[in-house]
Amino acid sequence: MGSDAGARPAALALALLPLASAWSIPSLRNEQRLHARADENKTAIPAAIDIGPSQYWDGDDGPWSSFPLQVGTPAQNIRALISTQANTIITVGTDGCPSFYPSNCNDLRGQLFKPNESLTWVPNSIFNIGIEQNLGMDTTSDALFDTVVLGWQGSGGPSVQHSTVFNLADPNYWVGAFGLRPDPANFTTQNDPQPSFMQQLVNNKTIPSLTYGYTAGNQYRLSKVFGSLVLGGYDQNRFDGTKNVSMGMYTDINRDLLIYLQGITTDAGSPSNLLPDGGISILIDSTIAQLWLPESACTAFEQAFGLTYDNTSEFYLVNSSLHDTLQAQNANVTFTLGAQQTGGSTVDIVLPYGAFDLSVKFPNVQNPNTSMYFPLKRAANDTQYTLGRTFLQEAYLIADYDNHNFTVAPCIWDSDKVSSSSLKSILRANETSSANNGGSSSNTGAIAGGVVGGVVGAVLIIGAIIWFLRRKKQTAKKRLAELEATNAPGGKSSQDSANEGKPFISQPMGGELGGGEIHELNSTHKPFAQEMESPFKMDPNKHGYSEMDGGGEFYGPNAKNHAAEMHGDTPVFEMPGSDVHEMPTPEVRPQDRKP
Ligand SMILES: *[C@@H]1O[C@H](CO)[C@@H](O)[C@H](O)[C@H]1NC(C)=O
Ligand SMILES: *[C@@H]1O[C@H](CO)[C@@H](O)[C@H](O)[C@H]1NC(C)=O
Ligand SMILES: *[C@@H]1O[C@H](CO)[C@@H](O)[C@H](O)[C@H]1NC(C)=O
Ligand SMILES: *[C@@H]1O[C@H](CO)[C@@H](O)[C@H](O)[C@H]1NC(C)=O
Ligand SMILES: *[C@@H]1O[C@H](CO)[C@@H](O)[C@H](O)[C@H]1NC(C)=O
Ligand SMILES: *[C@@H]1O[C@H](CO)[C@@H](O)[C@H](O)[C@H]1NC(C)=O
Ligand SMILES: *[C@@H]1O[C@H](CO)[C@@H](O)[C@H](O)[C@H]1NC(C)=O
Ligand SMILES: *[C@@H]1O[C@H](CO)[C@@H](O)[C@H](O)[C@H]1NC(C)=O
Ligand SMILES: *[C@@H]1O[C@H](CO)[C@@H](O)[C@H](O)[C@H]1NC(C)=O
Ligand SMILES: *[C@@H]1O[C@H](CO)[C@@H](O)[C@H](O)[C@H]1NC(C)=O
Ligand SMILES: *[C@@H]1O[C@H](CO)[C@@H](O)[C@H](O)[C@H]1NC(C)=O
Ligand SMILES: *[C@@H]1O[C@H](CO)[C@@H](O)[C@H](O)[C@H]1NC(C)=O
Repeated sequence: MGSDAGARPAALALALLPLASAWSIPSLRNEQRLHARADENKTAIPAAIDIGPSQYWDGDDGPWSSFPLQVGTPAQNIRALISTQANTIITVGTDGCPSFYPSNCNDLRGQLFKPNESLTWVPNSIFNIGIEQNLGMDTTSDALFDTVVLGWQGSGGPSVQHSTVFNLADPNYWVGAFGLRPDPANFTTQNDPQPSFMQQLVNNKTIPSLTYGYTAGNQYRLSKVFGSLVLGGYDQNRFDGTKNVSMGMYTDINRDLLIYLQGITTDAGSPSNLLPDGGISILIDSTIAQLWLPESACTAFEQAFGLTYDNTSEFYLVNSSLHDTLQAQNANVTFTLGAQQTGGSTVDIVLPYGAFDLSVKFPNVQNPNTSMYFPLKRAANDTQYTLGRTFLQEAYLIADYDNHNFTVAPCIWDSDKVSSSSLKSILRANETSSANNGGSSSNTGAIAGGVVGGVVGAVLIIGAIIWFLRRKKQTAKKRLAELEATNAPGGKSSQDSANEGKPFISQPMGGELGGGEIHELNSTHKPFAQEMESPFKMDPNKHGYSEMDGGGEFYGPNAKNHAAEMHGDTPVFEMPGSDVHEMPTPEVRPQDRKP
């Protein structure tokens, strides 16, 4: 985020800093946590969690806003991209940086995971990762189990002790991935399905439901906007709540986010119809960067924008003269999505040229080892049609695996909204009837890091105290609900009476924001974005990227002191009603879809 967005929370932080230190009394926070622990098994429903971005831009075909993971014990810091297709964690192992790779390979690949340096890893075997078979991108990898925490060290992010991790060597996935799909992984040598990270968070009452909201972020809006990931709900501040398309998930769980692309048009260039052979079924998949479209559509894009396919790299490379032309033209490309093949409710997602103005790097291109490119790929057949991360720069995705439906809405680019969040929890149908669907706003945003975390904590603690006082008065009059003295919801006193006797949206365990209703994962180890070093830092006055030293300093001085709390044993979870699938899974043609 740029200086404007950063300055405002910083000023607020300065103003409120004395309050933060005055109210962050350790005993108070501990007491609230004890209350929460005692009520762990009652009806409290956890709130949605906002996973703060890493504040780095990563990838060999981006730059892309990555998210922080801590893997193993002591925690190893990894930056990963978000995969809507994977149901596991994917990391890059030491074999992922052979000696002939660039010397900063570790950093380029988002840092490596070294199982031999973790005290808690459990080896498995070598398996197919089982994603992107349709694109010819599946690969085999070492599989193992270890503790994984989302968020930087000290952020109090959600943790799962027995996560399935693929520690790969291959460059197919240049940076690791955090898989959002909740179905368990079945390893073919065992009849022993392994619950996904998402399922374990629900089982552990860390998030309220098998749902998420995600948008990829980008560098061309405002002064760079990081990606946003909410588990158990969504961030209302990131999309237009009046326009969207919502539909049921497709029955093949490997293609569950299949949607109808009814048309692609552009307001500049000719032809203006960029999907000349009519609507298609297409998979939304954040794992990969590009848009995989029919050949006729690729030809139309080539004509409209003067693109040339590079047979060697298999990318649409863009030279500087074409880049100048495309920037000056600044075409908008409109994707019309629907819940049906034709007609019905639709939503337009508009991508400006900036969304296509990306950079491809080693090992995708060599000599030179970086180039601008247009993120379009020629699909060999209809199973390959994919709206990759490029598309999710302008679209917000909400997926609900309890109800098996999903929503796509256009992002909004209001700097005030983007620099704060308004989380809405999605509760399970059998729980919403008695629970308040709690939303909460907070002015933290991904940008402001630990300082604002302290401020929000202080504000919420003050709210909690007010709430406790009010609560005491009310309980004198009213029957004590079973939930009495639960999880200290934050400053939402206007909703108190509505909440009386009902399950609360509470904070998950182990949060930094004692008493907070919404769990913001604020980094304590990251500087403000504008001070940040990144291999992909972009100079807006230049084409391409300035060479920056990725450094690897980002763990901060205290990194070692924040190793996650560990317990050796591995609880076994039941997975009621979960679909179990075998990896790999046969493909199903999109035409088979029955809407
Ligand atoms: C909550 O339930 C689990 C298992 O059902 C049990 O092990 C744990 O002790 C319970 N916690 C509390 C605080 O009662
Ligand atoms: C772990 O393995 C890597 C490479 O395989 C090696 O460089 C490193 O020294 C090992 N670490 C330990 C603690 O053995
Ligand atoms: C459940 O969540 C808590 C808090 O994040 C974490 O400490 C614990 O390890 C989790 N349990 C399992 C089995 O992953
Ligand atoms: C997991 O895969 C094995 C081997 O294909 C199969 O026998 C087993 O039934 C599968 N387990 C589940 C729960 O589907
Ligand atoms: C989708 O759009 C409908 C109609 O405008 C609106 O009622 C609904 O709240 C929107 N969904 C979300 C998640 O904002
Ligand atoms: C740049 O690329 C365009 C289209 O790919 C091509 O027509 C043009 O000749 C190239 N210009 C240079 C200087 O290579
Ligand atoms: C790329 O390959 C296609 C056929 O595979 C061929 O027609 C075309 O001339 C090649 N282009 C270049 C620039 O080599
Ligand atoms: C693309 O859309 C933006 C915002 O609506 C507008 O300002 C711009 O002029 C459009 N570009 C073209 C080429 O029409
Ligand atoms: C790219 O090439 C330049 C010079 O040829 C070299 O200094 C740099 O390390 C290379 N980077 C990568 C990622 O290969
Ligand atoms: C689609 O094309 C890919 C790549 O050529 C191929 O591997 C796959 O088998 C094809 N799928 C179908 C259903 O034709
Ligand atoms: C609510 O439904 C989910 C499945 O959608 C189930 O796993 C869960 O146990 C149910 N919760 C209660 C309290 O019945
Ligand atoms: C799923 O469907 C339910 C019921 O129609 C609707 O209320 C909800 O908004 C939908 N969720 C998504 C993410 O589309």
